[in-house]
Amino acid sequence: MSSWSPSTEGVETLIASDGLGTGALIVVVVVLLAVRLGYGVSQSRKRRERTRAEPAVAVTKPTETGALPVAARRVTPQVTPGERVDDPILAIEHLTVAYGPKIAVDDLDLEIARGEIFGLLGPNGAGKTSTLSAIEGLLTPREGSVLLDGIDVRRHPVEARARMGVQLQSTSFQTELNVRQIVRLYAGLYGVTMTDSQIADDLEQIGLGGEAAKPFKQLSGGQQQRLSLFVAVIHEPDLLLLDEPTAGLDPQSRRQLWGRIERIRADGGSILLTTHSMEEAQAVCDRVAIIDHGTILASDTPKNLIDKYREDPNVRAVAHGEVTLEDVFIGLTGSEVRE
Ligand SMILES: Nc1ncnc2c1ncn2[C@@H]1O[C@H](COP(=O)(O)OP(=O)(O)OP(=O)(O)O)[C@@H](O)[C@H]1O
Ligand SMILES: [Mg+2]
Repeated sequence: MSSWSPSTEGVETLIASDGLGTGALIVVVVVLLAVRLGYGVSQSRKRRERTRAEPAVAVTKPTETGALPVAARRVTPQVTPGERVDDPILAIEHLTVAYGPKIAVDDLDLEIARGEIFGLLGPNGAGKTSTLSAIEGLLTPREGSVLLDGIDVRRHPVEARARMGVQLQSTSFQTELNVRQIVRLYAGLYGVTMTDSQIADDLEQIGLGGEAAKPFKQLSGGQQQRLSLFVAVIHEPDLLLLDEPTAGLDPQSRRQLWGRIERIRADGGSILLTTHSMEEAQAVCDRVAIIDHGTILASDTPKNLIDKYREDPNVRAVAHGEVTLEDVFIGLTGSEVRE
């Protein structure tokens, strides 16, 4: 689809032609240009060295209905449940995030294996987005360390960010930009050269071929999600961070997105996602962690969690028949609706 290039032509052209003068966009441009600088120091990365003939994102056709069967999607297990991860892509130790007196993430430890799809599950306000924000460098944690592929994200934020793809809980691009312009902008900022026909092909592949000239604000929620995922992986990140990527999607779009996540993993990426869907967690995640009040209550494969907590009285009390992951989730976090 694209190739790496030191040119900033795409960005300059876009800024010149579209008058992107808002403060918010300047911040984005500065951050991404800084990220792009990081590529200069990440030449040794094996995924960078391979030919980028294949699109970084999904080649799922819009007409395809969904992800591969679960059995077909599983790769060689990277983690022995209950044991530490060997050579993790992401290692978080003693992470504490506070907003004034409010402790949102409380001394959290977490490791993600290479090639793993890891799900962070938790009720509203549990600390999921705060955890992702600390990894992404969008906030400064009170304590703790985050290593991405061995790189300390606080000490080397530019290099670390160059290796991560981020889809925020609610993505907002410059609403007046059309789809093609957004792709060109982000490709330029990440140093990925894409011709007009490559952009057209890739948009076609994610089902946005007919929307290329549409302003972002005129896209449906699902279309916006598809575009934001596409942009998040345009630079083939090692670690993809997705905050509720399927919230609000219809079943078809959700299955397609699962398929895309699987393909990103098959292409060498690792994924940390949050979700409120236990069905989704079971379908796509190799391991999950249940988090509440900023603390991890349990972490394992969905199946092992169910096996482990099947006889727990709190879980039994909420189960209707066969114990599910949702029963375990509610048994551990309680039935009260959060503020
Ligand atoms: N900017 C902020 N200022 C103050 N408190 C915040 C801020 N952001 C989050 N919080 C608080 O921190 C806690 C964790 O919030 P966070 O957004 O991380 O939760 P979450 O698990 O992502 O929830 P949700 O499922 O609703 O997205 C909550 O109590 C929230 O009110
Ligand atoms: Mg959140």
